Amino acid sequence: MASQFVRENHLGSPADTKSLISQLTGLIRPQANGRLAGLLAAFCFAGFIMAGCVDDVPELVSDDPVLQQGRDIYVARCVSCHGATGAGGLGTKLNDGEVTKKYPDIDDQIDVVTNGKNQMAAFKDSLTESEIEAVVRYTREGL
Ligand code: HEC
Repeated sequence: MASQFVRENHLGSPADTKSLISQLTGLIRPQANGRLAGLLAAFCFAGFIMAGCVDDVPELVSDDPVLQQGRDIYVARCVSCHGATGAGGLGTKLNDGEVTKKYPDIDDQIDVVTNGKNQMAAFKDSLTESEIEAVVRYTREGL
């Protein structure tokens, strides 16, 4: 349900996707090896949609490995509800300093992700403490 939400919001109907793919392949086909390149483009494009537009998740400016791990977890576990940029969707807005304002103490935010809150599931059974801390730091420092 959640991934469907992201997909529909991003591209509209499957017909849109089809015409986009044919536009893309049409652009590439005239080149040498055109058919192969066209196929490849369609394939990558489909992969991009399946990934829930993960390409939009902000890249890190810092090379802190913990933040990089946090970004990977955000991509895998949080994008579907909170959006690629953290602007919100099913879940609340997390970006633009929203979480540091709401949770000046990082431990309170870690508590929400660990134990859940209303519609938001608890992650204590599926992520370790250090993974939760990493993804929380990413939402505070990377979004
Ligand atoms: C199934 C959808 C869903 C997923 C997946 C999800 N969240 Fe949430 N999240 C929500 C909803 C809905 C809320 C709002 C809860 C409320 O306040 O009632 C929320 C709230 C939050 C809050 C509190 C925000 C606030 O304004 O108080 C944080 C922090 C948060 N989520 C982080 C995460 C992180 C980190 C992940 C990934 C590990 C994640 N969420 C995955 C749906 C989700």
